[in-house]
Order: sequence, then C-alpha cells, then structure tokens
Amino acid sequence: MELKNITKIFPGVTALNDMSIALQKGQIHGLIGENGAGKSTLIKVLSGVFSPEKGEILIEGEKTHFSNPIEAKKHGITCVYQELNIAKDLSITDNLFMGEYVKSKIGLLDYRYMNTKAKQIMDEMGQEIEISKLCGQLGIGQQQMVEIGRSILLDAKVIILDEPTSSLGEKEAKLLFEIVRKLKEKGKAILFVSHKLEEIFDLCDVVTVMRDAKHIATVPASKVTKDQLISYMVGRTLDNLFPKTPSKSGEIALEVKDFSSVGQYRDVNFQARYGQVLGFAGLVGAGRTELFRGIFAADKRDSGEVFINGEKQDIKNPAQAIKGKIAFMTEDRKLQGLVLSESVMRNICLVNLDSLKKGLLLDYKKIKKQAEDCVSQLRIKTENINKVVGELSGGNQQKVVIGKWMNVDADIYVFDEPTRGIDVGAKIEVYNIINKLVEQNKCVIMISSELPEIIGMSDRVIVMRSGKIMAEIDRVSDNFNQEDIMKAAWGGKL
Ligand SMILES: Nc1ncnc2c1ncn2[C@@H]1O[C@H](COP(=O)(O)OP(=O)(O)OP(=O)(O)O)[C@@H](O)[C@H]1O
Ligand SMILES: [Mg+2]
Repeated sequence: MELKNITKIFPGVTALNDMSIALQKGQIHGLIGENGAGKSTLIKVLSGVFSPEKGEILIEGEKTHFSNPIEAKKHGITCVYQELNIAKDLSITDNLFMGEYVKSKIGLLDYRYMNTKAKQIMDEMGQEIEISKLCGQLGIGQQQMVEIGRSILLDAKVIILDEPTSSLGEKEAKLLFEIVRKLKEKGKAILFVSHKLEEIFDLCDVVTVMRDAKHIATVPASKVTKDQLISYMVGRTLDNLFPKTPSKSGEIALEVKDFSSVGQYRDVNFQARYGQVLGFAGLVGAGRTELFRGIFAADKRDSGEVFINGEKQDIKNPAQAIKGKIAFMTEDRKLQGLVLSESVMRNICLVNLDSLKKGLLLDYKKIKKQAEDCVSQLRIKTENINKVVGELSGGNQQKVVIGKWMNVDADIYVFDEPTRGIDVGAKIEVYNIINKLVEQNKCVIMISSELPEIIGMSDRVIVMRSGKIMAEIDRVSDNFNQEDIMKAAWGGKL
C-alpha cells in the first residue's frame, strides 16, 4: 500500500503536508515523530477515517479511494487506533465479529461458529480467556489483543498499530511482538507507531520519521542509530536526555510502615526524603500503583501506617491526602479528569482554581498566564490555549494533564509513569520540572517502568516484585545500574 503526496488540513492546522509512505508485504514499518507530528492523522487517512485534501492512495499499484473505514476494511486494511475501540458491555466474540456477524442458513446469528472461531483466534494469540467474558472485565492488554484479533479474523493485508504498547506490560508487549512477527511471516504489511525507540529497533525492518506534518526520512532500521533518529525527529540534537541536577538528602517527608493489601502488596516499609527523587522500579504489575493508591487512600488497604513529617496521618480519602500535601499523578491520565470537550486553558487550571482567584472572582489574567506558561514549558502543540483538548494529538493531551498537576501546591509529588506516550523532547521538559521541584526541596517519588529514566533521574531506587520490596539501591551504590535493577525486579538477589 502506498500513500503519495498526501495533504490533510484541519481548521488552522496542516496535519499532513505532502506526506508519502509505502508499506510492503512481509515488512514491519516503524513510524515515529514528536507528539503532534501527524502520525495518527496519517493512519486515519490510511484506514479511511479522513479523506485527504490532496494526494493519492495506491493498493498493489492501483489507485484507490475510500471514504470510510468500512470501505478501507473491504480493501484489507485494518487498524488498532491509539484510543481503543472496544464495546465494554459486549463479549469477546461480539467485539471480534462486530459489523461482520456471521449468519446461519436460516438467517440467525451463528454463535456456534463465531464462538469457535473467536476461541481459536484468542488461543492463537496466547490468550486463554473465556470468550463469553465482557470486554469491560478484561485488562487493557487483553482488550488490545481483542482489537488485534479483529485484523486476524478479517485476514487483513495491511495491519496498522498506533502506539499499541503504550499501556502494555513487558510480558504483554513481548507477546504482542511475537504475534506481529507471525503476521509479518504470513506476508502482511504492518505499520507500527511507537515512542519507544528500543521497540522500533527490536521489531521494525524500516523506519519512517515525520516532523511537523512532513516526511523527513525513511531508513532501514539496521542502518541508523538512536541518536540519528532522535535528531530527525526533533530537528536538533539533544545531548542530555536525563538532565539530572545534584540533590541533597533532606528530612524524611513520607514514611510508610507495614503496608499490606491482600493480593496486591505485602509488608511494605519505606521512607522518602525532601530534596530527592525516589524511584520505584519493577515490572508492570509489581504492585507499585496499587501501593500508592493505598497510601493516597484511593483504594482500601488491609493494614499499614502513613507518617508525614514524622507525624502519623489518618488518611481516609484522596481529599485528605491532598490536604496532607501529597499530589498523585496517576497513570490512567485520560480517565482522571481530562475534560475532552473543554479548552486547554480550562483543563490546565482545573485543579488549582482556588489559587487563581481575586477576591471571590476568578482572575482570568492569572488563569491565562498559567495556561500559557504551561503550554510553552511543556511544548504543548496547540494553536492557542482555547483549543478543545479533544482535538489535540494523544501525546499532547497527556502533556495537558501533566501540566495540570504541576501547578498543584504540594510537598510530596508522586508521578506514576510520568513520561508514558510523550516524545523525547517533552520527556526532557518533564525531567526539568522534576528538577525544579527538587530544587524547591520537595519530595518527589517517580514510579516508572523505563529503566533508563529510573537510572537517569533517581537518587534512590526501590525495586518491587509481586507486591514486595526486593531491593533499595542508592545512586552511589555499585548496584545502581540497569542490570542489577532488572535482576531484582525478576526476583534475583543482589
Ligand atoms: N480532529 C482534529 N481537529 C483539529 N485538529 C486536529 C484533529 N486531529 C488532529 N489534529 C491536529 O493535527 C496535528 C497532528 O496530530 P496527530 O494526532 O496526527 O499527531 P501524532 O503524531 O499522532 O501525535 P502523538 O504522538 O501525540 O499521538 C496536531 O496538531 C493536532 O492538534
Ligand atoms: Mg497519535
């Protein structure tokens, strides 16, 4: 499949500017670029969601036009979008066959056939789940497998995956890669979008880089380095990916004693200090998010005590935690109060409106300034602060949520996967914000599954596995390296 000289314009933005890309049979093609570069828009043109203003689409050399995803599907093109399209109240079978229901000879839905087929597809993907289960009961990783299952069911020629690993754990991602490689062997043309360059090198045969709606380069993955790809993406060289500033070891800010919640975490004890970054490493599912949801009283725990500044706290709900000056930026940022139909400005100022008042009234000058500062600091790609958040690219929506939490006045900041889904340039901005908090002598806790980031930014690292602390490693220790942290995360002794 080939896109030639495609231009796509939204009011005020050119999202694709004379963009071309060719997908070959039996090849995995990586697509990378900064947030807002135009990747998802390109995919939506490929899969018939958007019609371009200019340019042509060729399938097996033949000029084609499709005006909706159903027509694209008929041409053998399927897509797993960045925002999943799963009907939560329907079963796996229903989700797989949606729009493609199979009927028996007498015209009734042939569930016997569909269930058998659904089971076979999920098995093929290594998913041993009851196919009558409602998709809402599945984890995000499994929901994604159902989406990919649709492409397999349709026996699509072209399979497009838009950031499929952004919400998957290590194990699930590995499994997904195996499935993708199998699809490649079957001769499918695959387009794979990701912000994780390691994945691009691991999986892809060729890589296309986009910047500002344009094609920048298409290169074989084996003939390019990470630094080269980064400079293609951002148009400049970034020499320090982890701009950590030196920190000091202050007083104990937060102390957690004997924290337990059956099936989630057990006997957790740790201290976090002011003026430092405490990293929480571990595999996805190690219980880190659950632990902090327990501390923040977003979920119930079975036992355990929390001390802030040496004083025992009785935190019963998140509101009390915020009063105790703990800010918690959770990992499921979209669910967590991004109002998609509202403007960038309103979203950024939502959590600290109280501090943006002049007497009893809102101070619009202050609100505007806070929003504008945030947009420029995090390089949020939007024409202006009045743009509706739902129209921003996926990564830029995430930046809005991050910006929102940056303005909360707290002493202890917990960031759960703060850089997931955002591009290299913006990651550095997030690290700079963390540095600033540390300089202001705040206590920062960073949960992250990305080891380079843990190593790059933490003063101390706690490694968790299956709900338990396996190791605590200081920055000056000999064990402060990726290999040893990984070893502890898998249950090895240091
Ligand atoms: N429906 C829309 N209406 C208006 N503008 C849009 C719409 N969809 C996308 N845009 C704009 O088009 C540009 C490209 O967005 P796109 O979603 O393609 O980026 P992306 O490369 O996928 O980024 P990310 O890595 O953040 O997912 C952005 O400036 C975005 O704000
Ligand atoms: Mg996108």
